[in-house]
Formats: sequence, C-alpha cells, structure tokens
Amino acid sequence: ESTLGAAAAQSGRYFGVAIAANRLSDSTYATIAAREFNSVTAENEMKIDATQPQRGQFNFTAADRVYNWAVQNGKEVRGHTLAWHSQQPGWMQNLSGSALRQAMIDHINGVMSHYKGKIAQWDVVNEAFADGSSGARRDSNLQRTGNDWIEVAFRTARAADPSAKLCYNDYNVENWTWAKTQAMYRMVKDFKQRGVPIDCVGFQSHFNSGSPYNSNFRTTLQEFAALGVDVAITELDIQGASPSTYAAVVNDCLAVSRCLGVTVWGVRDSDSWRSEHTPLLFYNNGSEKPAYTAVLDAL
Ligand code: XIL
Repeated sequence: ESTLGAAAAQSGRYFGVAIAANRLSDSTYATIAAREFNSVTAENEMKIDATQPQRGQFNFTAADRVYNWAVQNGKEVRGHTLAWHSQQPGWMQNLSGSALRQAMIDHINGVMSHYKGKIAQWDVVNEAFADGSSGARRDSNLQRTGNDWIEVAFRTARAADPSAKLCYNDYNVENWTWAKTQAMYRMVKDFKQRGVPIDCVGFQSHFNSGSPYNSNFRTTLQEFAALGVDVAITELDIQGASPSTYAAVVNDCLAVSRCLGVTVWGVRDSDSWRSEHTPLLFYNNGSEKPAYTAVLDAL
C-alpha cells in the first residue's frame, strides 16, 4: 500500500492524525492529511473550553470544521475529550462540588448529543492519574467532586451515545512497570468487574527522553486487552522521530488483535505541540521523513 491509512486498513486498523482547524487552509497540510490518514482527532477543537466557552452555550464552529473536513474526506473521527482537568473554560475552573459534577454531566450530554451516532471513539475522561510512584488519582477540581467522577462520566456517556466506543485516555501509561500504568489497570479491571461502561483505553504515547518508549509497551497493550477492552495509540509523537522506535510502536499495535489503530499528534514537525522535538512523520516542507517509511513498511 502507498499510504498509512490504506496500509493500516489491510489489518482492519486505522492510521490517524490530530488535525488543527486553522491549518486546514494550508494546502500542503491538507493534502498530506487527506491522502495519508483515515482517522482524525481534533487537536483542540472538541475540548471543553472550545465547545462550551460559556456555561450552557455550546459552540461547535471549530469542532465542526474538523469533523466535516474529516467526513468529507472519508475519515472516521475520534472524539477528544469530554472530562479533563485541563483546557477547562474559566466558568468551569471556578466550580466545585455538586455544581461542577452537574456541569460535567451537562457537558458530556451537550457535546455527545451534537455528535450522536457520528463518533467512532470518545475519550470520555483524559489524564485522571498522577505521575510518579503514588498510583493515586491526580488532584483536580473534578477529582475533588468525589472518586466516582470517572464512572459517572462513563455512565453518562453511554446513555448519551450508545454507538460510540468509550475510552479512558492518559500519558505515561505505556510502560508496564510504572505505578501510573498499574493504577489505570486496576481502575479498568474494577470497571469491567462492576459493569461500568468502558470500551477502550487510549495510550497517548508522547515519547521523549523523560518518558521513553520501552519494549514492554506490547505487554501493556496485551494486559489491558485481556481485561476485555480495546486499546489504541492515540497521540503518538517521538522525540527525534527514530524510525526504529516508530516501527516498534506500530508493531506493538499490530501484535495485539484488540489494538484499533494508531494516531499521530500532528502532520509535520512544524505542526507539533512539541515542534522542538521534531517528533512527527513529515518535514516542515511536507516531505516524508525516514520515520514515515519505517511506519509504512511496518504496517
Ligand atoms: C495539546 C495540543 O496539542 C496543544 O495544541 C494544546 O495547546 C495543549 O494540548 N494530552 C492531550 C492532548 O490529551 O489534548 C494535548 O494536546 C497533549 C497532551
């Protein structure tokens, strides 16, 4: 196959990309994105601050720009993200307790009903665990509403759009030996045992010198899949874009039948949120990097 998306489709998977609405007018960017990928995640446009800037006033202008571009170009869409401590609008940052809990529920209902039946996977909850060795939840205004906020989010999401796969998404959870990974594993196991509706786990996979790729990532994917959830690599970028590391990540996904696909977090290095890491598959001029060829060959 000659594109990443078509190559991934040979095994029933997708190869996706994070899209920024304001870059779609750049023809180099839009041409590569339309050609190479068959799944799209909005990089920022479906987040809480973008979709509900004022309480009760939803705005899907930018989100729909990404969504409509994706659908018009034949791509499926991953929804990102409904409940998160970051990129909250000011009004939400100022809420706590039962008012914040209700606002979270209202937000999930408002966004999911707008896209009902149209989203392949939703990142319902993002980044709820703490870094480091504690294995604890991350402190946040949402966490302070009560430890059950995550399961409430998932139950709300299931009712709002029963057709979407519901994912928990996080970073620094790729290394099987890390406490954060084990904490996430215990939560998913508990949810499956108690019937809390969760369908998938997203591994962001922002690999850099502080949290490098480790070959035990495949074990992590296998262990989560064995709990009865799908897994996905949701925001892949690799500092320096080592071709062999990119190929290893792709091979880890291909080795796990429940791995749905891989999403890279941007098109060209200049589009990356960490452009100084030159972590992506395309040079700034739009030409393919060695990592691109390594990924295509691995798929
Ligand atoms: C990042 C975007 O890429 C940036 O443009 C934005 O300024 C901050 O958020 N984990 C996530 C993503 O789940 O939503 C983040 O995206 C990167 C880390």
